[in-house]
Amino acid sequence: MKFFVDTAEIDAIAELNDLGMVDGVTTNPSLIAKSGRNILEVTKEICDLVSGPVSAEVVAADAEGMIAEGRKLATIAENITVKVPLTWDGLKACKVLSGEGRMVNVTLCFSVNQALIAAKAGATFISPFVGRLDDVNIDGMELIADIREVYDNYGFDTQILAASIRTANHIAECARIGADVITAPPAVIKGLANHPLTDKGLATFAADWEKTGQTIL
Ligand code: E4P
Repeated sequence: MKFFVDTAEIDAIAELNDLGMVDGVTTNPSLIAKSGRNILEVTKEICDLVSGPVSAEVVAADAEGMIAEGRKLATIAENITVKVPLTWDGLKACKVLSGEGRMVNVTLCFSVNQALIAAKAGATFISPFVGRLDDVNIDGMELIADIREVYDNYGFDTQILAASIRTANHIAECARIGADVITAPPAVIKGLANHPLTDKGLATFAADWEKTGQTIL
């Protein structure tokens, strides 16, 4: 399973990238606003750092506007993935942009039927939002499993990019179900290393070692 990092913060991407944890990056208008940076500049910096797909999202609401914005975003770097919303206009833009050989990430997916039509429109990635479904008492992970089943039924090669990932358990479940990619904030990815028994064991080892009076170096 690939790990994308869901942020526009360069330092956080660089830290995870140094450990080989970054297969790609996703951004959205909220994350760009949070960074306080210009979209073209910050996205270029991310693309210089990371060789995998970097999603940059359009903001137009109509297909023509999305296509124009997508083409402009795609000039930033070879590894740009144009992110379009799962609306009828977004699907039109997806069809045109993917037909031009560009990677397209169809975002804001909340149902298996939305995922089905995105695959038919040529999406490279479909982004179902797990956490936002959980927020409204709908099991987000069930959607990941449903999309996996439907895509496998028909051999679609659109990759399931599980988004709105909030917890380590979300990541474990996505790996179990067979999502192709997860995108998560840096803190959630770093949190995968945590276990209280690791901390407890380490404290015991340190206390016992102290008693020996030895040093290794
Ligand atoms: C993914 O592409 C989205 O940018 C992101 O995962 C949304 O996450 P949120 O629901 O935690 O904002």
